[in-house]
Amino acid sequence: MMLLREALAPMVRRQDYSAPAYRIRAVELTFDLDAAKTIVGSRLSVERDTALPVQPLRLDGEDLNLLRVLVDGQSVSFRHENGQLVIDAPAAEAFTLEIRNTIAPEKNTQLSGLYASGSGLFTQCEAEGFRRITYFLDRPDVMTVFTVTLRADKKKYPVLLSNGNLLEQGELANGKHFAKWHDPFPKPAYLFAVVAADLVAREQRVLSRSGKEHLLQVYVKRGDLDKTEHAMNSLIASMVWDEARFGLALDLERFMIVAVPDFNMGAMENKGLNLFNTKFVLANAATATDVDFDGIESVVAHEYFHNWTGNRVTCRDWFQLSLKEGLTVFRDQEFSMDMAGSPSARGVRRIGDVRVLRERQFPEDAGPMAHPVRPDAYQAIDNFYTATVYEKGSEVVRMMHTLVGREGFAAGMKLYFARHDGQAVTCDDFAQAMADANPDSALAANLELFKRWYAQAGTPRLQARGVWDAEARTWTLTLAQHNPPSPGQADKLPQLIPVALGLLKRDGTALPLQLAGEAEAGGTERVLVMTEATQSFTFVNVDAEVVPSLLRGFSAPVVLDDGLSDADLLVLLAHDTDAFNRWEAGQRLAANRIRAALAAPVEAPVVLDDAFIAAMRALLRDASLDAAFKELVLTLPSEIYLADQIEGIDPQRLHAVRESLIDQLAAALHADWAWAFEAHQVKVGYKPDAWQTGQRALANLALAMLVRHAVATGDPLWPGKAYQRFKDASNMTDRLGALEALVNAHAELAEPALARFHAQFKGEALVLDKWFMLQARAPERDGRVFARIQQLLQHPDFTLGNPNRARALLFSLTHFNPAAFHRLDAAGYAFWADKVLALDTANPQLASRYARALDRWRNLAEPYRSAAREAIARVAAKPDLSGDTHEIIQRALA
Ligand code: ARG
Ligand code: ZN
Repeated sequence: MMLLREALAPMVRRQDYSAPAYRIRAVELTFDLDAAKTIVGSRLSVERDTALPVQPLRLDGEDLNLLRVLVDGQSVSFRHENGQLVIDAPAAEAFTLEIRNTIAPEKNTQLSGLYASGSGLFTQCEAEGFRRITYFLDRPDVMTVFTVTLRADKKKYPVLLSNGNLLEQGELANGKHFAKWHDPFPKPAYLFAVVAADLVAREQRVLSRSGKEHLLQVYVKRGDLDKTEHAMNSLIASMVWDEARFGLALDLERFMIVAVPDFNMGAMENKGLNLFNTKFVLANAATATDVDFDGIESVVAHEYFHNWTGNRVTCRDWFQLSLKEGLTVFRDQEFSMDMAGSPSARGVRRIGDVRVLRERQFPEDAGPMAHPVRPDAYQAIDNFYTATVYEKGSEVVRMMHTLVGREGFAAGMKLYFARHDGQAVTCDDFAQAMADANPDSALAANLELFKRWYAQAGTPRLQARGVWDAEARTWTLTLAQHNPPSPGQADKLPQLIPVALGLLKRDGTALPLQLAGEAEAGGTERVLVMTEATQSFTFVNVDAEVVPSLLRGFSAPVVLDDGLSDADLLVLLAHDTDAFNRWEAGQRLAANRIRAALAAPVEAPVVLDDAFIAAMRALLRDASLDAAFKELVLTLPSEIYLADQIEGIDPQRLHAVRESLIDQLAAALHADWAWAFEAHQVKVGYKPDAWQTGQRALANLALAMLVRHAVATGDPLWPGKAYQRFKDASNMTDRLGALEALVNAHAELAEPALARFHAQFKGEALVLDKWFMLQARAPERDGRVFARIQQLLQHPDFTLGNPNRARALLFSLTHFNPAAFHRLDAAGYAFWADKVLALDTANPQLASRYARALDRWRNLAEPYRSAAREAIARVAAKPDLSGDTHEIIQRALA
């Protein structure tokens, strides 16, 4: 069995790359669209690379029903080999290849290729979906000009879309119609898209700086137009930003966004025709939260920015995925920061981005799926759309930005496009352009060293210790780095680590910084560039003991051990001018308390000290700080983050300790929470801007704390207020916040509120997802949440077939609710195994993502660890597991 699997999914290696022997200059596609059976005609203009030895033409294809193959109009002999269609050495150097095949969109439950969703037909081709539509050279370095004719029933599919410009459309016999599209930009097949559906569009005409007019469209199903304004505004803002910051203008007359209800991922940047998960398009104040609005803004921007970083310049091969994804995440993060405005709001965004990195990427980097930002080998490329490629990839680009500066980075981008527009290139090409545009930078001086960030997996540990010499009036910082082993990489070399820092005196004032050898002090913040395993930096004119604020803004994706005491951290929490480090000081104070409690005997009560409580109160009451920042500081580090940082974790114990600390914060700051709730009400019309979002977030946190304390003490006041607010709320953020406060505190009023919410929103799929998610993510208490999740599996609104719904219930348990999932009786693991197997037959991409919930099983304490292993082994034993899931499971057990 093992052998058969290996044969189905061989390991693909970066080293084995070779340029394509054939190119497809142009393709004319015709689709006779029908959900049961779609006929695809393809006419390819193929050229052989005469510089290479003659070899067979091998076309990729998967789940296709082949009808005919013609070369220059003549039938030709062909064969199938390893899932490819092989034509032995076609005679001519350039020829026309005609292929006809059929596919069955309504049977396509994988949601890759052409599939049915709602009453429409949609495509998803990245990474290897195009081969599920027709035979092709389905690799990103084969770039082709596409002309596409769509024919379909006019009633069922009144809207027919593909990439580029609409050439013509019209009526056909038998109630059918057609549309012909042409995309002038050569593109890899993964950027191809088709839509046939009954949709309506919000439209807007805009002028770019050069004065060119563009038509922007957001397509949604009938009835959803009132939820498209924010997506459209985000698209326009993205266009303006990319022109202003990088001089990159839209290169198409028409730019379309289409919302699809069944979608494996967030969205897809197909040239001129972005397809989106409905979750990242549809929003209005009544149905979407501030977090949803925010997600839409960044995903719309992300896909739009791909038009240059991904589409105009694409990847040579899939190992280079971070070339487009890391860079585009960096761009969307910068965009959102610029949109947020004030320095403080920027800091809040940075904290949010780092949280995501540390909760998703750090565990990945420490587990069996650890891989470099530019991986070396894969079995299923869909498994490598990871937090490492995306989020750590973005951090790598951010470090370049730090090393060359904002202007230097813009110059690097310019050179990158000047050199590579229209090409399929590598991560090296991007780094080289950045370095060449900034010849005097630390990046150029250390380019090969810097590129280890692309090659080495794992999160480096950075140790930092400062020593003050009173006599010499110096403070010497010694840095040491170490990157623990990852699968396939036992020993690692030092990496280049930019360490942004400031030094604070004990009274909180910033010290002017002067390194030994410098003529005078320059500023209060610096970036030290670490290039060796161990390195020291000496600051002069230091008259007193200082508290270092290291790695400001999280200047490198590392784990920092700076040895600071709680007293030092309290100084930073009170005074650091760097928002990230100020927040981090609070998180570390909390984490220290949680660690101490975990190390103490189980019976010992965990008591929060007055110093910590006083510091939190001072922060909450500080009039100079934004609400959004306060909400972040007053939220304890998550169980997921803590579990990653602590070896041999007992998830139940961690949950109990953390919950107890939250209870104490709720009790000790009761009056402050009541004040905060009242003081942060938004009294103007709803807008999902940074200020209002912060007000609502803090008010909701305060309400949650008040309800939690009330339920614990049997006081009916705050639960009653929360229920009232839930009923009367004028927007979804407040409504859901109040509902969450009741549900998370296990208040009696949670049940009537949940019933009311369901009745009110039963027609809104995305809101129902929230209803499932809220219940599945509630803090576990006596197994109630797990039991509720099992009940919800039977709910008539639940289905495994819709990825958003499956994520709302299943992923919420296994990926986001450790205490409900990791049970002493192992029922959570049995649940997980059952669902991996159930998902795997229908949708391997979704199943393999789901399977990753147990990646970090080796870090669990007994008996969790053995029980988890057993569940993984049960999944591994299934003989016909998909290649995607097989790769994940096999790595987990390796
Ligand atoms: N390129 C898309 C984005 O990040 C994601 C596509 C993911 N596709 C996949 N099969 N994993 O915007
Ligand atoms: Zn992307």
